[in-house]
Amino acid sequence: MPVDQSGVWRFRDLLPIVTDMNKVTTLREGNTPLYELPKSAKALGLHWVLAKHQGMNPTGSFKDTGMTAALSVAVERGFEWVACASTGNTSAAMAAYAARAGLRSIVFIPEGKIAWGKLSQSMDYGALTVQLKTDFDGCVRLVNELVRAYPIYLLNSVNPYRLEGQKTPAFELLEQLEWQVPEHVIAPGGNLANASALAKGFAEAHQLGLIPRIPKISIIQAQDANPLYTFMHQPGGTDGRELIPVTAETRASAIRIGNPASWRKAVNALQTTGGWCEEVTEQEIALAKAQIGAEGIGCEPASAVTLAGLKKLVADGRVKEKDRAVLILTGHTLKDSDYTIQYHRNELFTNQETAALTPEEAAQHTHL
Ligand code: F0G
Repeated sequence: MPVDQSGVWRFRDLLPIVTDMNKVTTLREGNTPLYELPKSAKALGLHWVLAKHQGMNPTGSFKDTGMTAALSVAVERGFEWVACASTGNTSAAMAAYAARAGLRSIVFIPEGKIAWGKLSQSMDYGALTVQLKTDFDGCVRLVNELVRAYPIYLLNSVNPYRLEGQKTPAFELLEQLEWQVPEHVIAPGGNLANASALAKGFAEAHQLGLIPRIPKISIIQAQDANPLYTFMHQPGGTDGRELIPVTAETRASAIRIGNPASWRKAVNALQTTGGWCEEVTEQEIALAKAQIGAEGIGCEPASAVTLAGLKKLVADGRVKEKDRAVLILTGHTLKDSDYTIQYHRNELFTNQETAALTPEEAAQHTHL
């Protein structure tokens, strides 16, 4: 059965989704590789750095694991249309799964602010692709209005079935580590569903008695798209407070999000696992991305925040020499090839920005 080849549906006993397995829409998602990053480990003075490469999913991002679950629910409930707002990867995944299922899909994306690879995917898979002169947060407002007015199933990550699918990489990772629990799992933070879903997966594995403890989950944001970081580091603590949206700006366009939907879940994930929220600069992201590329692995810019964040956690001793840290690489390197080319042609940063590098940073950039 096709579902048995899916890294999501082979965990169907752990998914609260009652559906006829013959009607599941799957592209054989999941079952993604866990790589060692020996060069990064050496540079950081760590024994291990591992990368769970969710970019090796069928449409090139982690979104596929959630989309197979939520799209199958849409089919079961008899919807003909599905919709989402997206920074590019959700729309690519939704368009593909909707096409497989024979549903129509409509995507709202911020004009000029998503990578071409992702835009081309939603067109290729036949989604009605609408570019709006706003940012991701503006697209979310509009898609919410749309689904209130029409019988269209919303596939943004506020959809709980998305998170159910997205928790399964936690099980898969534990399997790949032969049930040895890593000390740290590090994920990028955008709309904040992914880190929350992984935390749910680890918590469930713990509740089931499959693992004796849960890893610390840390969330890394781009410095100018950092609402969670700002929330977690505010004077006086977080109790009883609401997250304040920010105007987001980063070249890691996947995580250019100022008003994250799942912030409460993410705060819970940080607090229950003991992980941290960090922010990293554009230069740090670019360098980390090049380093992951130089491992022969590669990822999209938003994924590279994990390595940039790990450096910070190592620098002040939060991650120790013998700790095992697993980076969640969320998207494939081909998703945003413009970024990569611009970086290696020295076109990504202005002369002023390059001049602002410390001598050590400058040396690292040129040594790659
Ligand atoms: N990495 C990539 C490659 C992404 O596409 C996203 C989110 C994230 C990280 C952040 O994950 O939102 O769960 O915190 N992309 C969404 C999209 C928002 O529309 O494709 P998150």
